[in-house]
Amino acid sequence: MLKEQRGVLMIVLMLSLTVCAGGCSKAAETPLPETPPTSIPTPAPTSALTSSGVDPFEQNVRLGRGVNLGNALEAPREGEWGVTLKEEYFQLIQDAGFDAVRIPIRWSAHADSAAPYTIEPSFFERVDWAVNQALSRDLLVVLNVHHYEEIMLRPKEHRERFLALWAQIADHYKAYPADLLFEVLNEPNGALTAGAWNSLLKEALQAIRQTNPERNVVVGPANWNSIDGLGSLEFPEDAHVIVTVHYYLPFQFTHQGAEWADGSDAWLGTTWQGTSSETQAVTRDLDRAAAWGKANHRALYVGEFGAYSKADMDSRARWTDFVARQAEERGMSWAYWEFCAGFGVYDPSAHAWNRPILEALLPPAQ
Ligand code: BGC
Repeated sequence: MLKEQRGVLMIVLMLSLTVCAGGCSKAAETPLPETPPTSIPTPAPTSALTSSGVDPFEQNVRLGRGVNLGNALEAPREGEWGVTLKEEYFQLIQDAGFDAVRIPIRWSAHADSAAPYTIEPSFFERVDWAVNQALSRDLLVVLNVHHYEEIMLRPKEHRERFLALWAQIADHYKAYPADLLFEVLNEPNGALTAGAWNSLLKEALQAIRQTNPERNVVVGPANWNSIDGLGSLEFPEDAHVIVTVHYYLPFQFTHQGAEWADGSDAWLGTTWQGTSSETQAVTRDLDRAAAWGKANHRALYVGEFGAYSKADMDSRARWTDFVARQAEERGMSWAYWEFCAGFGVYDPSAHAWNRPILEALLPPAQ
């Protein structure tokens, strides 16, 4: 999506107090050296899905505390947004004590534009490498379709291609262990309205179920996976679904100075002190999500939350800690946005964790 379009959307979304958190062209991130992977690990499916599959609530507990490997495989080409995945990243994530990674992937940039919309074999190999790096370290993996910008603008035109991408992805990973979860689409928005999304989502689930009858699949609501969107989310009766929401509120705090959020320079200096009105706003939002989950018997995954690096570090750490703990108290799993770019919990140039954020996510044992 063009920055200008994103800007218009931002204003609309801000006015309606919903969360906008994706689907934009990215501005400068600190470029990393382009380092090709040092080794190609062998595919590591360890255990197959059982005949009854894995209970989504149990799996959600194991999904626990995760991190998004953002700005890598969902860039137009890996490396263009400053992040090229390295084996050491998976080791760092495991050693730090995370349970899972979410891997955002722009499949749409690596597949033919005409039927049968074949995904490039070399791209599959690269994604396999990343998935296996995680699984072989006992990290659960949420693999999604991310930044399919065209489908947000012209859903009808891209329906067939989207379903063909899922048919290929699902078939490719059908023998992988249950620790690999699929997520249908990051942050549906724009012309992919709630109605359009609900029907596309049903078809995508059908395509996935042809080859993966019981794998847990993550689905989120329209309107950028916002909590407000949950009320309009519909999908077929399916026992193996985990529902996701993204949380970036207050947006003027978490996205201050973000190059892709028009007008966000005016928000620079916004702090988050953890006052009672600030904390109550968060708990009210998460209570609404939890109530929806309870009423609909669905496990909930906060698949993205984070505050951009232009906010002050104390506020970022306070907000991150508060949101993570509140999610946990309500039985939600989560994945921080993101590992080593603009929101980074890890600083790749210093080869060091961003300690305040890491400790907010994974508090040291008392
Ligand atoms: C988008 C990213 C963005 C983040 C926070 C994600 O869903 O894919 O591009 O940085 O949300 O806005």
